[in-house]
Amino acid sequence: MTVPARTTTLVVMGVSGSGKTSVGEVIAKRLGWVFAEGDAFHPPANIEKMRSGHPLDDADRLPWLRRLAEWIGEREAHGENAVVTCSALKRSYRDLLRKDHPSVFFVHVTASRQVLQQRLDDREGHYMPASLLASQLDTLEPLQPDEPGLTLTDPGNVDEVVEQLLRELPADVERGGS
Ligand SMILES: Nc1ncnc2c1ncn2[C@@H]1O[C@H](COP(=O)(O)OP(=O)(O)O)[C@@H](O)[C@H]1O
Ligand SMILES: [Mg+2]
Repeated sequence: MTVPARTTTLVVMGVSGSGKTSVGEVIAKRLGWVFAEGDAFHPPANIEKMRSGHPLDDADRLPWLRRLAEWIGEREAHGENAVVTCSALKRSYRDLLRKDHPSVFFVHVTASRQVLQQRLDDREGHYMPASLLASQLDTLEPLQPDEPGLTLTDPGNVDEVVEQLLRELPADVERGGS
């Protein structure tokens, strides 16, 4: 049996409007890593629920998180470094993604409530209504000290967030593990 090379999967997390997709796409391009949009892993029923303004509950999120975890496992098995967006609001969701997946490193993008609200009000063509922000912020459990990851607390524009991330990523993570 061949042992796959140790890799890194950056899980770009945070509430809606925090910049997961924007930052995730740019960082993946900069590093030349595979990118996946976590929203695309939702079953259609979840998208419909959010579109109509109802927050998802744990039961709704379970199949979504399992599919994401499966994708992470596949990247590891292929020896690929990767970037994936996922709100990953609760510790239990993050534990599910990380279980048996040593490549996972969380990147929490944040902004003030006011900035988030403004961005969502301005954003068009996305199923997530701005009204769900309050419930997302209530649900959010910040990264805990024993979780592998970092929080970008003072983001400027997307390029500045990406620069900050590249500066702060531990060297072994940026190289894709040792
Ligand atoms: N750091 C940032 N500075 C300014 N605008 C941003 C920043 N990050 C994201 N945006 C903008 O905010 C909106 C939401 O960003 P998005 O990446 O879609 O967030 P998410 O994927 O977390 O919901 C988009 O219109 C995006 O261009
Ligand atoms: Mg997004």
